[in-house]
Amino acid sequence: MKTGRILTGIRPTGPLHLGHYVGALENWVKLQDEYDCFFLIADYQALGDHLDEVARIRRSVIEVALDWLAVGLDPERSTFVIQSYVPEHAELALLLSMVTPYSWVARNPTLKAEIDELAARRTGRPVPPEQVENFIAGELSTVSLGFFNYPVSQAADILLPKADLVPVGEDQRPHIEMTREIARRFNRLFRETFPEPEALVGRVPRLVGTDGQAKMSKSLDNAIYLGDDEVTVTARVMRMYTDPTRIHATDPGHVEGNPVFMYHDAFNANKEEVEELKARYVVGKVGDVEVKKRLGRALNAFLDPIRERRARYAANPDLVKDALLSGTARAKKVAEETMRQVRDAMGISGYTG
Ligand code: TRP
Repeated sequence: MKTGRILTGIRPTGPLHLGHYVGALENWVKLQDEYDCFFLIADYQALGDHLDEVARIRRSVIEVALDWLAVGLDPERSTFVIQSYVPEHAELALLLSMVTPYSWVARNPTLKAEIDELAARRTGRPVPPEQVENFIAGELSTVSLGFFNYPVSQAADILLPKADLVPVGEDQRPHIEMTREIARRFNRLFRETFPEPEALVGRVPRLVGTDGQAKMSKSLDNAIYLGDDEVTVTARVMRMYTDPTRIHATDPGHVEGNPVFMYHDAFNANKEEVEELKARYVVGKVGDVEVKKRLGRALNAFLDPIRERRARYAANPDLVKDALLSGTARAKKVAEETMRQVRDAMGISGYTG
């Protein structure tokens, strides 16, 4: 018996990568039996910072669904939802924006970081650290209201099916915190309507990029995608950043902070092999090439079943479409019921009653 409800989701801006997997997806797959899961493809939210790439967002909706099916999200047990097909998401976002003080959004650290990134992308250069605060304050006036408001719309996504748990990547934590605050405020102002959801962050909260940068992302070109083929993965691994202090294979190496070993820890199912490689690495008895070759093999072994499932669904587009449409239809019913309760609690149920 399922004991609670989950809502979580993703912006369809491109294919999913290994960071998504260990940061969040892995938990989603595991929690499907225990929770009644709603998996949201947040296509409206994606417009906030991708208004110039609408076509890509639309293509990515199907790509994300394929990635989900490939990792083992199961539309028989869980509910896939396309955000824009359930306008109640937008309606609740509007009503919750009335309940949410501007200052709660303005202080959101993830939003600030994203605004800074957007600015850096536009100007093509990073902002000097001492100017970041000022720069963000300035940028706040140039990002769209829709983007600024996305944490509130995300709260609406979560509260619409009355989720208890939100398994997400580390960066999303502030949004779940704010969702709790909004739920509390709504319940106090009107009537007990929403549960306060908890965040759940994955096994590896933030997977470094293949170049050793703090996060894996498309814009940094340092990602390995769940849909990458064997040759691509191997090539990417062979170019990975390792221990910069090590020049010869006979130099003692560092395992801590070494991306290649972080990936071994995260993805290599053969723990003995990993421990043995580490022991040899720190005394200069194994070269980077060998360590990388084994990582390539481990990653490809990890990805193989994902690739197989993906190919099966890619060959059956109707299955993908059915998963999306039947899930969305169910979500729509749940959403309508919550909206009835919300309007009723707020005393805005109609005029002619
Ligand atoms: N912000 C999330 C992302 O960028 C996507 C998202 C939209 C989400 N609504 C959500 C995540 C609700 C968790 C819960 O991927």
